[in-house]
Amino acid sequence: MTKKLLQSIQSGLQGKLTVPGDKSISHRAIIFGSLSKGRTVISHFLDGEDCLRTIDAFKAMGVSIQKDGQHVMIDSEGVNGLKEPTQPIDLGNSGTTARLLLGVLAGLPFHTTVFGDSSLTNRPMDRVVRPLRQMGAQIDGRENGNYLPISIRGGDLQSITFIPPVKSAQVKSAVLLAGLFGDGDTTVIEPTTTRDHTENMLQAFGGTIAINQKNITVSPKQELKGTTIDVPGDISSAAFFLVAAAMVPNSKLILRDVGLNHTRTGIIDVLRNMGASIEVVEERHIGGEIIGSITIESSKLNGIEIGGDLIPRMIDEIPIVALLATQANGKTVIRDAEELRYKESDRIQSVVDTLKELGASIHATKDGMIIEGNSTISGGVVNSFGDHRIGMMIAIASLIAKHDTHLVNPECINISYPSFFEDLASIQT
Ligand code: S3P
Repeated sequence: MTKKLLQSIQSGLQGKLTVPGDKSISHRAIIFGSLSKGRTVISHFLDGEDCLRTIDAFKAMGVSIQKDGQHVMIDSEGVNGLKEPTQPIDLGNSGTTARLLLGVLAGLPFHTTVFGDSSLTNRPMDRVVRPLRQMGAQIDGRENGNYLPISIRGGDLQSITFIPPVKSAQVKSAVLLAGLFGDGDTTVIEPTTTRDHTENMLQAFGGTIAINQKNITVSPKQELKGTTIDVPGDISSAAFFLVAAAMVPNSKLILRDVGLNHTRTGIIDVLRNMGASIEVVEERHIGGEIIGSITIESSKLNGIEIGGDLIPRMIDEIPIVALLATQANGKTVIRDAEELRYKESDRIQSVVDTLKELGASIHATKDGMIIEGNSTISGGVVNSFGDHRIGMMIAIASLIAKHDTHLVNPECINISYPSFFEDLASIQT
C-alpha cells in the first residue's frame, strides 16, 4: 500500500476552481442513456472509478459507450436492446452502481450476477432486494441476498407502493427504475426528501414522473430518447475546498459551475450556520439541475448542532464537516446520521478514529459524533480506510497540521476525484 507525504501550508488558499462532474448525476446519465433509444452525449462526466463501473455494466449488456476523458457518447437501442451479460459484472467500490443497477436488472428478462470489492461486499443490499423481490424479481445472494455477490433474474414486474425504511436516494431510485418495467404505476413515498437526480434525469430523457409532495410515481413502458447532458460540478467534491477555504487563514476561493440542487446544499447551510463568509449565486438551470458559483473566505467559525432532515442533504459531506468542527469555537454535535455506518467505510468510526489520530478531540455516538472545537491538528501516519472521502478529509486536515502527515492508501481518492491533488496544488500560493 502506498503512502503519500502531505505538508502543511504557510499561506492561504487562493484562486478559482471547477471541480469534476457530479458522481450521482454521471451514474444516472449512463443509466438513462443506456435505457433510451438513440444517441446520448454527456459532457463534464466524472471520470472516476465508480462511474466507470456503471459504464462497464451497460457495456456488458451490449450498449455502445465511448468515452474520451470527460466526454461520453452512448448509442443504444433502448431497453429492448439490452442483452444478457456473459460474465459476472464487477461493481468495484460503487454502492450507487450496485443499488441502481439492481433496480434496472429487476426489469430485464435475463440472468445477471454482480459482485464488488471487499467494502461493497459488506454493504447492505436488502434495502433494495426486498422491494425488488416484492415486485417479482428473482434474487439470490450471500446471506439470503443481503450482500453481494448477488444473482438476479428480472422481468414481469408488478408495480408497488413503497415507503423506504431508510433515507436513501439509492433505494428510492432502484424502485423507481424497476417501476419503469412494472404493470402499472409505482409510487415511492419518501418521508424525508433525498437527492432527486433520478427524477430530474428521467424527465431530461423525455420521461414523465408525477411528484406530489412526498409521493413520487412512475408509469411503465415509457419511450425514453437519447439527449445531451451537461453534468454540473459535484458539490460533494467542492465541499473539501469550501471547508479548506473556511478554515485556512487568509483564504479566498471561487468555485465555478457547481451543482446547487437544493437536495444537496446542506453543506452550504452548515457553513453559513457556523459563521463562514460564503456567497452563492445560482446562474442557470439545466435538465432540472441548478448550476452556479460559490465564493468563500476564511472566517471565525462556531460549533453547531446538525441533525434531522438536513442530514440526507449533506450525507457525504459529514466527514469534512467533522474536520471543520475541530477548528470552530465550541462543540459541534452531529446526530441522526446512522446511515454513515453503511458507506464505503463505517464513516462514524473512520472519521472519529482518523481525526483522533490527527490530534482532535472527538467521540462517536450511535448515530453521529461530538466534536470539540479549537483542536490542534498534529499530523502523523493515517489510513484512508480505502474510503475516498476519508482520504480527502485527511489531505485537507494536513494543510493545517503542525507536523507532516502521511496518508496511507491515497489511491482510493480516484473513486470520485482523480484530479484532487492537482486541484489542491493549483490553489496553493
Ligand atoms: C447517492 C446517494 C447517497 C450518497 C451516495 C450517492 C446517489 O446514498 O451517499 O454517495 O447517487 O443516489 P444513500 O442515498 O444511500 O444515502
